[in-house]
Amino acid sequence: MQHQKILILDFGSQVTQLIARRVREAHVFCEVHPCDVSDEWVREYAADGQLKGIILSGSHASVYEETTDKAPQAVFELGIPVLGICYGMQTMAHQLGGKVEGGHKREFGFAAVRARGHTKLLEGIQDFATPEGHGMLEVWMSHGDKVTELPPGFKLMASTDSCPIAGMADEDRGFYAVQFHPEVTHTKQGAALLERFVLGICQTRPDWIMGDYISEAVTKIREQVGDEEVILGLSGGVDSSVAAALIHRAIGDQLTCVFVDHGLLRLNEGDMVMDMFAGKLHAKVIRVDASDLFLGQLAGVSEPEAKRKIIGGLFVDVFKSEAAKLKAGNASSKGATFLAQGTIYPDVIESGGAKSKKAVTIKSHHNVGGLPEQLGLKLLEPLRELFKDEVRELGVALGLPPEMVYRHPFPGPGLGVRILGEVKKDYADLLRRADAIFIEELRNFRDEASGKTWYDLTSQAFTVFLPVKSVGVMGDGRTYDYVVALRAVQTSDFMTADWAELPYALLKKVSSRIINEVRGINRVTYDVSSKPPATIEWE
Ligand code: XMP
Repeated sequence: MQHQKILILDFGSQVTQLIARRVREAHVFCEVHPCDVSDEWVREYAADGQLKGIILSGSHASVYEETTDKAPQAVFELGIPVLGICYGMQTMAHQLGGKVEGGHKREFGFAAVRARGHTKLLEGIQDFATPEGHGMLEVWMSHGDKVTELPPGFKLMASTDSCPIAGMADEDRGFYAVQFHPEVTHTKQGAALLERFVLGICQTRPDWIMGDYISEAVTKIREQVGDEEVILGLSGGVDSSVAAALIHRAIGDQLTCVFVDHGLLRLNEGDMVMDMFAGKLHAKVIRVDASDLFLGQLAGVSEPEAKRKIIGGLFVDVFKSEAAKLKAGNASSKGATFLAQGTIYPDVIESGGAKSKKAVTIKSHHNVGGLPEQLGLKLLEPLRELFKDEVRELGVALGLPPEMVYRHPFPGPGLGVRILGEVKKDYADLLRRADAIFIEELRNFRDEASGKTWYDLTSQAFTVFLPVKSVGVMGDGRTYDYVVALRAVQTSDFMTADWAELPYALLKKVSSRIINEVRGINRVTYDVSSKPPATIEWE
């Protein structure tokens, strides 16, 4: 099935992916590509007639980074609607004959925008009306330059006191632009505005629905794989689990999952993964208990980066040796020729845009990049087009339990980065039990106002093992035992995060249960550091 689509050209804003997520939430397929694609590329992309609209994103949210990037001129020549956002509005104005001026004081934060001129984009969309009856929108602004003269054919669509041209439109050509950011949730009507653009103005068919996507994905996987065999590294995380369930739906026993248990998983996690995939889904799963190997190699190593490298390296070795056995085949199989991975769309966008971005390595993330080449296998990535929320929806539609699909993220090196310093089996055993209590109580406690559990109100929560001893008193006796720290954060992107203001009653219950139930721990602390300057994990 061919989906109609929206093209989002990325000028480097931190929030471009949010534009794509809002469009997908309107059930419209869209893709993000770098802004410097050529005119020929754009025409080719539109050639099948499925492209219904284009959105030009904002640019870097920094005063220090100026850009002179332009949209390919073809964008304005295809006869389809275009929406410019922030820098996207400025380049649209500039390229179509208007004027943009720089050097203004940066405007950053909330603004009240007055809608003008009754354009199709804003009609009927407002937060409140002034006593004079003007429709007003509460929006998020973040810009230095601004449009000071409309291009020929455009009319004024929105304004604020400090930004007289905060929106403009040439409705005959279907060109719209706003200086503010409709993709962020601070702009209350932002989702409505983007939905109006893609459904009302571009008239795209809203056919991007995860329940329906299963059959489409199944067909694609069957076509790609034929009668060959596939292996997949199952970690118990959301992405690899959903990929496994989807591929299993498509090709059944042609899929073999390899589940490497490095001994640094959460309480009962290995059994849960086996129960779900081997037990309920009847998928072929090979469980490799490599905990002795991992813990053996980690003995005596306390430096965080060294630990990460050992865990990542061993993981690849174990997986490779299992894969080699499967690749070689046996009496009942011809051997695997595909390696499946749970790569999702943000990874694809980031690696596409990575050329232009400079980043410092704070932590070397554990991943298995390069494996397909080393193994001589072809790659199967059935989640490449999906955002995390869509992966979760798909998981539920495939019948995976919501508790599994909506679980907090868990790092590849597992408890290895949550036991500070040297990793020991005793420490891991204590930590697993303490952590399970914390998670259980987060699921038990509800916030009255929202009705949600504290597990759902936090983005990630876990317990950290501190290899220091402190003195306590229990009954009549003195204790001299270990300390754990509870960590719970709220974040939308994991790049920045606030520590969660958990209710005291919850903290009290968790602390008392851990100290009473986990002999060996006599003190519980709560981590009140935000990211930055702290990171989410302690190592
Ligand atoms: P930090 O600690 O860098 O973590 O603030 C940000 C997010 O990344 C996760 N994380 C990892 N995930 N492999 C992973 O798959 C890793 O090596 C790794 N290190 C950190 C962390 O749990 C948080 O969600």
